[in-house]
Amino acid sequence: AVTGKGNYRHFMEKELHEHPAVLGDTLRQYLDPKTLEVRLPRLPFDPARLPRLTISACGSAFLAGLVGRYWIEGLARLPVDADVASELRYRDPPLAEGGGAILVSQSGETADTMAALQLLRAGGQRVLAVVNVPESSMARESDGALLTVAGPEIGVASTKAFTAQLAVLACLAIGFGRARRELSTLDEGRLTQALLEVPGNAAAILERDAEIRELAAEVAKARDVLFLGRGPLYPIALEGALKLKEISYIHAEGYAAGEMKHGPIALVDSDVPVVALCPSGPLFEKTMSNLQEAAARGGRIMAFTDAEGAPALRRFAERVVELPHACAFAAPILHAIPVQLLAYHVAVLKGTDVDQPRNLAKSVTVE
Ligand code: G6P
Repeated sequence: AVTGKGNYRHFMEKELHEHPAVLGDTLRQYLDPKTLEVRLPRLPFDPARLPRLTISACGSAFLAGLVGRYWIEGLARLPVDADVASELRYRDPPLAEGGGAILVSQSGETADTMAALQLLRAGGQRVLAVVNVPESSMARESDGALLTVAGPEIGVASTKAFTAQLAVLACLAIGFGRARRELSTLDEGRLTQALLEVPGNAAAILERDAEIRELAAEVAKARDVLFLGRGPLYPIALEGALKLKEISYIHAEGYAAGEMKHGPIALVDSDVPVVALCPSGPLFEKTMSNLQEAAARGGRIMAFTDAEGAPALRRFAERVVELPHACAFAAPILHAIPVQLLAYHVAVLKGTDVDQPRNLAKSVTVE
C-alpha cells in the first residue's frame, strides 16, 4: 500500500528507495525521451520576456530553489533572486514590473511560503508553484502549478520530494534557456539526455548503500560535521548539513567550499569530518584545493565524486565514494541522494526517531 512501510524499517528508507521511480515519473512529465526536448505545460509567464525571477520557499524546498537559481541563471541568463519565504515576506523587496516567481513546496501548505505567494501576487508578479500536492492551497492560489510526481512523503525529512523538485527545476531551466534563445537544440538534447540518465544513476547510487553505511559509522562519532560544495553543489552541501541536523541531531554546517577559509576552517581538526561534494567538472580543481586546505589542518575528508574525480581525491581523502559518472548538469540531483542516505544511516546508528524527529513537523502551517 502507498501508505505502508513495506519491507523497510522507516518511511524515510522506503522513500529513499523510491528515488529512481519518482525521478523517472517526474521527468517523463516534462521531457520527451524521443525528441530529447523539454515539454512544459502553459506557464503563467513568458520566460523570454521576464526581466527577473524570484524564487522562494522554506527548508529543503528552498535549497532545491537555490540549485534552480544556478541552473536558470546559467542556462537561461535570467537574473534570479532567491530568499527564504519567512524573510521575503517582510523584506519588502522592490519587485520588477512584469516579473515572475517560482515557489517550491512539497505540501503546498507552508504558511510562510503562502505569505510570500500573497506578497508576490500583490506586487504584480506572476507566480508558478512547484508542488507535490495538486489540490494544495499553493497550487490553487498560484497563477500556475507544475507537479512533482513524488507521491506521498511521510518521513518528516524530505527525500524523494526534494530530488523531484530538482528534476522539475532542471526541466524549467532548460525550457527557459530555449525560450530565451540561450540554448541550441544540441545543448537541449545533451542536457535532456543527462536528465534521462538520472533515474538509472539514482538506482546505482542506492546500490552503494553499504559503503555509505560505513561512512555513516564514522560520521556518527562526530560532534560537528562540515559539508562543502561549490556552485550548484553548494546548496546540496546545505541540504546535507540540514538533513544530518534534522534527524541525527549532530551539529552540521554547510558551506561554500571557497568560503571555508573565512571562518569554518577554524573548526577543522582531526575530530571533524568534512563531507565534500566534489563531482568532476568545471569547479572540481577549485573545490579540491579547498579540501586540501582542510586536509592540511587534519580534517578528515570524506568525498563524494565520480570515476573521473576519484583518483585525485584518493591522494588525500580518508574516504571517497564514487558515484556513477554524470554530466555536471545532473550532478546536484545525484549528489543529493547519498547525503540523504548518509543522514539516514547516521540517525539509525544513533537510534533517533528517524521519521518523526523531535520538534519538527512535516508541514508547518503556522507562522
Ligand atoms: C518542514 C519540513 C521540511 C520541508 C519544509 C518546507 O520544515 O520538515 O522537510 O522542507 O517544511 O515544506 P514544504 O511542504 O513547503 O516543502
